[in-house]
Amino acid sequence: MLPATINIFEKAAKKAGRILARDFGEIENLQIKSKSVGDFVTSADLKVEESLLETLQYYYPNANYLTEESGSIKGGGETIVIDPIDGTSNFIHGIPHVAIVIGKIVNDEITDGVIFNPILNEFYWASKGKGAWCNNKRIRVSKRQYLTDCLIGTGAPFGKRIYSNYYKELENISRLTAGVRRFGAASLDLAYVSSGKIDGFWEKDLNLWDVCSGVLLVKEAGGRISESDGNNWTTKSRDILVSNTLVHQKLLENLTLL
Ligand code: IPD
Ligand code: CA
Ligand code: CA
Repeated sequence: MLPATINIFEKAAKKAGRILARDFGEIENLQIKSKSVGDFVTSADLKVEESLLETLQYYYPNANYLTEESGSIKGGGETIVIDPIDGTSNFIHGIPHVAIVIGKIVNDEITDGVIFNPILNEFYWASKGKGAWCNNKRIRVSKRQYLTDCLIGTGAPFGKRIYSNYYKELENISRLTAGVRRFGAASLDLAYVSSGKIDGFWEKDLNLWDVCSGVLLVKEAGGRISESDGNNWTTKSRDILVSNTLVHQKLLENLTLL
């Protein structure tokens, strides 16, 4: 049986997912606005977020909400974090690698999270102490221990988020591993580490809504989370490195000793 919170998050994500999937089929009719270079919002982002808030506020009328498109909504107690479409650029380009993200934070600790790709119908969830799951199957991080066998995900910075050391980081990790992947939705990158598809992932300057559910998934799947310089990751962090635990130290060394 699903934990009660996950049940509600699933209901919200699957309802909003129908809107997202419908709009994905009609991309040419979408209104697209640019917030800054490489940062877009479409009418689908707004409709999906509205639908998520409608369902979630019915069940959690008094919670705080932190959302990408509507900002913060003040309440009390727990905080529900929402990214209506993670991977908006993929969405606009007709690439079906997108997800709806909903997470719950209590006293600065992530207790529940879902990541739902309504196009491929992949529903990832994790709840504190209850493991990480995808469509009713328990998922775990990979067991690869040599970087030479590993695929490592990253988020290449764009626009004003570019930082020059990135290309050195990329070179180091590319040289030592079986390859680097840039899929374009940070939440799914973390879900992919959790399910052992890729063995690690790093990106800088992310928002809490990109990573909150994925951090819990990685933890519950047996992986390790830190900032990309090795400091502890907290809900205030903007930089992240996650891995299957086994290769964490080696990735850190190659991201920091530049
Ligand atoms: C973005 C995606 C992307 C990452 C960006 C995020 P959005 O989220 O997660 O993979 O590289 O940093 O902003 O804008 O599509 O919700
Ligand atoms: Ca996002
Ligand atoms: Ca988004």
